Amino acid sequence: MDAHVDQSKLPEDARAFCDDVLSGLSQPQKELPCKYFYDERGSKLFDAICRLDEYYPTRTETALLDTYGDEIAGLIGPAACLIEYGCGSLVKTRLLIDALDRPSLFVPIDISEEHLLRSAQELAEDYQDLDVRPLVADFTQALDLPDGDLPDGDLPDGDLPDGGLEDEGFGKKENCVGFFPGSTIGNFDHEAAVAFLRTVSETVGSGGGLLIGVDLKKDTETLIRAYDDAEGVTAAFNLNVIERINRELDGNFDVSAFSHQAQYNAEAGRIEIHLVSQKAQTVHIQGRDFNFSEGETIHTENSYKYHIKEFEALAAKAGFSPVKTWVDENGLFSLHYLTVAE
Ligand code: AVI
Repeated sequence: MDAHVDQSKLPEDARAFCDDVLSGLSQPQKELPCKYFYDERGSKLFDAICRLDEYYPTRTETALLDTYGDEIAGLIGPAACLIEYGCGSLVKTRLLIDALDRPSLFVPIDISEEHLLRSAQELAEDYQDLDVRPLVADFTQALDLPDGDLPDGDLPDGDLPDGGLEDEGFGKKENCVGFFPGSTIGNFDHEAAVAFLRTVSETVGSGGGLLIGVDLKKDTETLIRAYDDAEGVTAAFNLNVIERINRELDGNFDVSAFSHQAQYNAEAGRIEIHLVSQKAQTVHIQGRDFNFSEGETIHTENSYKYHIKEFEALAAKAGFSPVKTWVDENGLFSLHYLTVAE
């Protein structure tokens, strides 16, 4: 470590980013956690990915929600407390809320406070009868729904606690249902996916449910097109993470000397995204040097794909039983409704 670089001068968020970057780039297979894709520019690029012809998951899942909304609502039942993990597309959230029979409460949970509060405010304005309670939290951690009454109150104005629903004074809710669209579960390795699903099953409790989007295994060509689109939007999304290191950590990546690569690892059942160094080069970040040989890669993301039975077996390890699965006519994407045994 260069003695002139004092990382304690970085803001707290940037310090965590810095630690993860320095340790990820020190591994024999260099890697960066995919959560760092989503700064402001990365989030915009991801929205653009979701609009691409080649990226079938978004439109396919949206169509499933639109087509089967009534059936889903019938299974979930009236007056549900809906908990959305991650604050994604309001289009999907609205489709579900529109279909449900008078949901009692909607709790979107996201670590990104600004984006969460903006989305929650928009929803609350359009659904005046719905109690919308955004919660700033790391949704991979367990959330408590303790006994007690739900307090009256307005939408929180940004002074949200980092704790669970308990800190918000939420009472024990009947008919709690988690909503985790977008196949974000695919970005967790199997062990982390089970751990996350376990926190969801604990949060919704026995008799509670989970509506989750899961991308399916399919021909390699379709997968590669979805993760290496002709316009290069996914490439820009991937390269943005090293641009972000340059912006926020004063790194000196020559972004033009890296290229995007998407490959399907059939044995592991996942798309792997890498950044490939186009030449031998050294990158300087926060007083550390990282050497790259020509062709060496940084592994930036995994996106696991499942057969329906594989996903059901994974969810069973977290206490969920399958109730119903909907798949589009081309067999591209699945939407599962699962419940925790009473
Ligand atoms: C957010 N997540 C589900 C996306 C996926 O398909 O794994 C992220 C993504 N990466 C490249 N394209 C989209």
